Amino acid sequence: MAFHSFFFTLLTFSLSFHGIFAVDYQVINEATTTPGGIRFTNEIGIPYTKQIMGTINDFIWSVILQEHNPSDQKPVESVNIYIKEYKGAEAITWGDYINVSSIYLEGYQGDVKWEFTSLLYHEMTHVFQWNGEGQAPVGLVEGVADYTILKANYFPPAFAKPGDGDRWDQGYDFTARFLEYCDGITSGFVAKLNKKMRYSFDIKYFEDLTGKPVDQLWQEYKAKYGH
Ligand SMILES: *[C@@H]1O[C@H](CO)[C@@H](O)[C@H](O)[C@H]1NC(C)=O
Ligand SMILES: [Zn+2]
Repeated sequence: MAFHSFFFTLLTFSLSFHGIFAVDYQVINEATTTPGGIRFTNEIGIPYTKQIMGTINDFIWSVILQEHNPSDQKPVESVNIYIKEYKGAEAITWGDYINVSSIYLEGYQGDVKWEFTSLLYHEMTHVFQWNGEGQAPVGLVEGVADYTILKANYFPPAFAKPGDGDRWDQGYDFTARFLEYCDGITSGFVAKLNKKMRYSFDIKYFEDLTGKPVDQLWQEYKAKYGH
C-alpha cells in the first residue's frame, strides 16, 4: 500500500511539473457547517476547485500574460483558497491567499459554480500578475483581472460593452474593455504591459507599446464606439 502510494506520488508529481516550480493548489472550507459552506460542498466542491485552479493558472500564464518561460513568471509555490464566513467583499486576495465569502456564495442567485469559477479567474490573475511593485493604478490592476474573465468567456451579461466607461483607469470591466481595444492595436498588449510592470509603472508604457499616449488612446476608443 505504502509502496503503491509512493510511486503514485512520484507519477502525479512529474505530470504536474511545469518547470522549476510546480504550483500546489490548496482549498480549505472553514465554513463547512454554514449555509454558504454547505452550498460550496454541494454545488462546487474541493475536487472541482483544485481542478479549475490548474486550468485557470495555465490560461493566465499561456493566454493572458504569455509567460512561457518560468523566469518571466511570478514565483508562486502555492495558491491557497479559504471558504470563510465574513461579510463585505465577495473575495479578498492577499499574496497567494484567496478568501472567498461563504455568505456571498449562500446569497448568490443563479449558477453558483459558474459564478465561483468566474470569480477565480479574476482573483487568480491577482496572484500571478505584476503590479509595478504597487505603483500601478488600482484601476489598471483590476482591469487586467477582469480582462482574464473577458478572454476566458466567463463574464456576466452585465459586463461592460466596448466603449463603456468614463476613464481608462476606471477599473474592472470598463478598463478590461479598453485593454481589449489596446490589444487590437498592439497584439499581446496586456501581456507586454504586464511584463513592463514587473518592477515599476509609468504611464508612458501605453505609448511605448502603441505609439500613442493613453489619453489619446482613450479618446480614439470612445470615438470608435460613438460615445
Ligand atoms: C484569509 O483567511 C485566512 C484563514 O482563515 C486568515 O488567516 C487570513 O487572515 C485571511 N486574510 C484576509 C486578508 O482576510
Ligand atoms: Zn480584484
